[in-house]
Amino acid sequence: MKLNKEFWKEKYRLEDTPWDAGSATTPITTFIDGLEDKNLKILIPGAGNGHEFEYLYNKGFKNIYALDITEEPLVNIKRKLPELPEKYLILQDFFQLTGSFDLILEQTFFCALAPDLRPLYAKKINEILTQKGQLAGVLFDFPLTESGPPYGGDISEYIRLFEPFFKIKTLERCYNSIKPRKDKEIFIHFYKK
Ligand SMILES: C[S@@+](CC[C@H](N)C(=O)[O-])C[C@H]1O[C@@H](n2cnc3c(N)ncnc32)[C@H](O)[C@@H]1O
Repeated sequence: MKLNKEFWKEKYRLEDTPWDAGSATTPITTFIDGLEDKNLKILIPGAGNGHEFEYLYNKGFKNIYALDITEEPLVNIKRKLPELPEKYLILQDFFQLTGSFDLILEQTFFCALAPDLRPLYAKKINEILTQKGQLAGVLFDFPLTESGPPYGGDISEYIRLFEPFFKIKTLERCYNSIKPRKDKEIFIHFYKK
């Protein structure tokens, strides 16, 4: 199975989007609620229908970017936030993105990538963060098998993957997952090395 643009486009066309929680989930909203600097330049890669983006926007963060390889979800964000300038919605493959961000928020994007892209994901995130940049969000906590997406992983794999690029502040089982994701999520908060 090729997890390319056509794959995701078809998922949205069929409205087969089981990952979409319908609103930003509590691990992410709790983290966002703790952010003080509303001027942070924030990227949400693989933003989908952008619930986290909308949450940030409604909290007064305005230097925020939603990126997706598929057009449909970005159109959905624009529909919800018609006044939003187009430049904040980036239709592009994450791995082709250039630029720099203070904070990157991860929510079911990493787990949607083919696992062999994980080292490239860690490297790319590091590359597009500012000097004191941060990566925060959730990764799944269930065995990594060939079946997916979503693809799982565990704390030891994530340490091996991310430690070369990041100082690890938090990497632990979420205490505040939404019910269907309870005991299946790890919260991460890393700083660029
Ligand atoms: C599982 S969905 C998650 C969407 C959203 N984060 C959420 O939680 O609702 C994965 C998203 O990543 C997007 N995607 C997949 N590969 C991508 C890539 N290489 N670059 C950018 N977006 C990509 C898909 O189009 C899809 O919207």
